Amino acid sequence: MSWIREGELSLLERLSANILKAGPMPKHVAFIMDGNRRYARKKHVERQKGHTQGFDKLAEALRWCLNLGIHEVTVYAFSIENFKRSKEEVNGLMELAKEKFLRLLDEQENLEKHGVCIRVLGDLTLLPEDLQHVIAKAVVSTRAHTKCFLNVCFAYTSRYEITNAVREMAWGVEQGLIKSSDVSEALLSQCLYTSNSPNPDLLIRTSGEVRLSDFLLWQTSHSCIVFQSILWPEYSFWNLCEAVLQYQLNYRSIQKARELHKEAETAQQLESDRSCVAELLRQGRNGKPVDAHSRHSALLSYTAGREERVSRFLSALQQKRDNFFEQMSSLTA
Ligand code: FPP
Ligand code: MG
Repeated sequence: MSWIREGELSLLERLSANILKAGPMPKHVAFIMDGNRRYARKKHVERQKGHTQGFDKLAEALRWCLNLGIHEVTVYAFSIENFKRSKEEVNGLMELAKEKFLRLLDEQENLEKHGVCIRVLGDLTLLPEDLQHVIAKAVVSTRAHTKCFLNVCFAYTSRYEITNAVREMAWGVEQGLIKSSDVSEALLSQCLYTSNSPNPDLLIRTSGEVRLSDFLLWQTSHSCIVFQSILWPEYSFWNLCEAVLQYQLNYRSIQKARELHKEAETAQQLESDRSCVAELLRQGRNGKPVDAHSRHSALLSYTAGREERVSRFLSALQQKRDNFFEQMSSLTA
């Protein structure tokens, strides 16, 4: 099974998709693909078969998303917590991933045709070396594609990602690229593995579990979260439509919450810049009063300086990440 299943929607599915598309559509959908082992038990097949069928369902779901005009999908394929599973199961999942990423390398034409960019989010160094190389090759080979994006969270948890983002900012301060006062909520967001994506509009978890299990905790505070009882390998086009409908029913309140958050973030940044400028003026003028015009000019120039520092730091961070993938991909698997 390839990464995007070929095939068109049936007439009824196409009709329903068009009705759905008359409403606001999510641009970015995230999936917690849960229930593979329960599916295997239910069907009296081996556990590994449940995961293989889980992958096949992902390929099918990607096709539905494209048909619905959803151009970005993020999936939880392997949590760092999953390393606690039996050695046999972990090895099976690593083998499956290796097989699928190798397959992806053979599918360049199809991925190019659809313009699919595949990103892998997580700490690759936790994975077996051969898999790291194959993943890096796949990521590098699709990174120029810009029509649709598949983010595969592999060796990922949200807490690990947030901790890593904090470390990256500490590195930036250590390197003299940013000041500790530049650390902000917005900057932390830009240091996450997901920095190149907008936040998901809709997060779907299958299998009836009603937890986020350390997935995209930072990114989904203003997303529509839908829990569905179906096991992932049994997921259908209609289940996806139902989740999109839930998103549409909650669209206004989600947008409102996002706008309020954006305003609060802007206000926080302005307040932080103002207090840095006040401190600088206090130091520079030995406590002598400063007129409103000079204060305003100082604020403008401080803000421009901060934005430049932050932008240089983010470029350095992106370069560091690109270099990692570049080096990994140049090694033979
Ligand atoms: C959760 O079901 C699923 C996983 C831990 C693995 C998900 C992986 C895939 C669907 C394959 C994707 C592979 C690539 C390369 C993208 P579970 O094992 O927790 O099942 P359960 O909830 O029934 O116990
Ligand atoms: Mg599970």
